[in-house]
Amino acid sequence: MDEKGKATELNEQGSVTSRDGRSLAVRRLTRADGPALQRFNAGLSPESRRLFLPHRYDDETVRKSLGRSADGEDLALGLWDGERLVGYFFLWYFRRRVPLLGIGLADEYQGRGLGRPLMDILIREAERNGNEGIELTTMQDNERAFALYRKAGFRYLRDVENVAGDGRIAIERAMFHEIKPGAAPMQEPHRPPV
Ligand SMILES: CC(C)(COP(=O)(O)OP(=O)(O)OC[C@H]1O[C@@H](n2cnc3c(N)ncnc32)[C@H](O)[C@@H]1OP(=O)(O)O)[C@@H](O)C(=O)NCCC(=O)NCCS
Repeated sequence: MDEKGKATELNEQGSVTSRDGRSLAVRRLTRADGPALQRFNAGLSPESRRLFLPHRYDDETVRKSLGRSADGEDLALGLWDGERLVGYFFLWYFRRRVPLLGIGLADEYQGRGLGRPLMDILIREAERNGNEGIELTTMQDNERAFALYRKAGFRYLRDVENVAGDGRIAIERAMFHEIKPGAAPMQEPHRPPV
């Protein structure tokens, strides 16, 4: 099996530690995690949901999304505090040259230094998978996310039209993390796969 095949089969299991010393589990989401994912979204504050609505959370969309990850089309990971999903972070279009990254934490888990180790996990998985780079978009007023992404090695590319999870089109900042030297950003439009 080639490198790509191996990486898409990974069942990432690990942990990250918050700035205040809490250790939380990280693992790949499975088809059985739909209810946990829906509870995660339902528990977000309106402001967090405004900043992070990668797709709808109805049963059908969640089923498709988790199915894509199980099939290796995407890599969807979860941060767990016991049974509770408290972070959802992913690489969409994992088989493309340049996947699209998303990350969101439950409100009580923001500002505790968890974003960076989760970004590092996604970058490492993309490297292992042989991707040439990673792209993302972020809302123009999301200074915290923009700062995090820059620290994780992403550079601002340009403003682009992004299709949000509720179908609305917004102008967002596109950023790119180069893995293969000289790699070009993605050519495809920025839109969710589900
Ligand atoms: C964005 C998010 C993933 C960041 O993760 P986090 O663990 O909360 O991030 P941190 O609090 O560690 O902050 C990241 C960095 O940004 C800095 N920062 C925080 N707020 C900032 C602001 N308003 N302006 C500039 N920098 C800021 C922090 O100081 C930190 O840098 P440091 O590690 O050198 O101290 C998380 O807050 C989140 O899920 N927010 C809601 C959903 C969201 O916005 N998702 C991203 C959509 S593109």
